[in-house]
Amino acid sequence: MFLSRKNPPLIGLDISSTSVKLMELSKTGSSYRIEGIGVEPLPANAVVEKNVAEVESVGESVKRALAKSKIKSKFCAIAVSGSSVITKKITMPASLSEDEMEGQIQLEADQYIPYPLEEVNLDFHIIGETETNPETVDVLLAACRSENVDDRVAAVELAGLTPKIVDIEAYTVETVFSAMASQMPDEGMDKTIAIVDIGATMTSLSVIHNHQLIYTREQNFGGKQLTEEIMRRYGLSYEEAGLAKRQGGLPDNYEPEVLEPFKETTAQQVSRFLQFFYSAGGPIGDIDHLVLAGGTASLPNLAELTESHIGVPTTIANPFADMSSSSRVNKANLEADAPSFLIAAGLAIRGVEYKWS
Ligand SMILES: Nc1ncnc2c1ncn2[C@@H]1O[C@H](COP(=O)(O)OP(=O)(O)OP(=O)(O)O)[C@@H](O)[C@H]1O
Ligand SMILES: [Mg+2]
Repeated sequence: MFLSRKNPPLIGLDISSTSVKLMELSKTGSSYRIEGIGVEPLPANAVVEKNVAEVESVGESVKRALAKSKIKSKFCAIAVSGSSVITKKITMPASLSEDEMEGQIQLEADQYIPYPLEEVNLDFHIIGETETNPETVDVLLAACRSENVDDRVAAVELAGLTPKIVDIEAYTVETVFSAMASQMPDEGMDKTIAIVDIGATMTSLSVIHNHQLIYTREQNFGGKQLTEEIMRRYGLSYEEAGLAKRQGGLPDNYEPEVLEPFKETTAQQVSRFLQFFYSAGGPIGDIDHLVLAGGTASLPNLAELTESHIGVPTTIANPFADMSSSSRVNKANLEADAPSFLIAAGLAIRGVEYKWS
């Protein structure tokens, strides 16, 4: 008993442009249980393009989400992404230990990073042996401007939480992927699977092969376009339009004239986005399966429509599918929001695996 108190799991905390999502897991054997979960909307300009613009209002939202979730832990895992993060694939001699690699990356980083090194936090992630050269390994290097991390940390601290892990969203996708393997063909073995997370302002593509992240890219696109169109057409506020998207009740012309064209645009965007991966010309062949995530993936029949555009089997992400939940958590209520919890769930998994020293 006291052991689990001494080593509480970290809360997975996703601060994105529309909301604060948080989640706490416990682990028994290899299965996860949702102990607490919460989501709280953010005001329109609190987070702009993935960067915390209004530290106080974000802090207040985190506080409210925490109170509603009844989560007691004080430590969390957060993630950064967007324009503040640069990722680059480099190669390193396979003979180096991880420590040696870290040293060498620090020395060479200025070749890859367009900011002064004292202003960035660096991280790296070994992808695996280079396909064409067994003597080197491919390494994904990530650099984040410290000021962007600092604002996020400040908001979290205002809510009384201490971040123990600052992850990169793309790595978080890899983490949560493994917990969703049962939803993938052959559990993802020898398969190339694309996860497209369509949020409000940003869409990210992560390509995963054998459970390893091999490619990542982001672009500005998301459900906010649809929210804004609803606001314009029907004279609604940002909050009203957001609710209407989820709960319906809009005039009859909404579906044919607004929703369907937006879904069509979304499917086209996904298709064009995948072309970036293909034209990067890596050694890994075609995408075998596509998974849509993010709040926008909850639009009705988006998977079917996208599949018909790109000809690749497409499903909607459900990071909760293989998780049980505590009796305090209403799992049925969660299902509708499951695709948007991709990052929060990945962070909660990192949080429950965290080794306290
Ligand atoms: N049930 C739903 N039906 C349609 N759209 C939805 C639904 N739930 C959420 N959305 C839309 O999804 C978007 C929010 O998704 P998500 O929470 O993944 O974004 P985010 O992570 O806050 O954004 P970003 O990643 O761009 O910072 C909003 O545009 C919201 O209106
Ligand atoms: Mg998001």
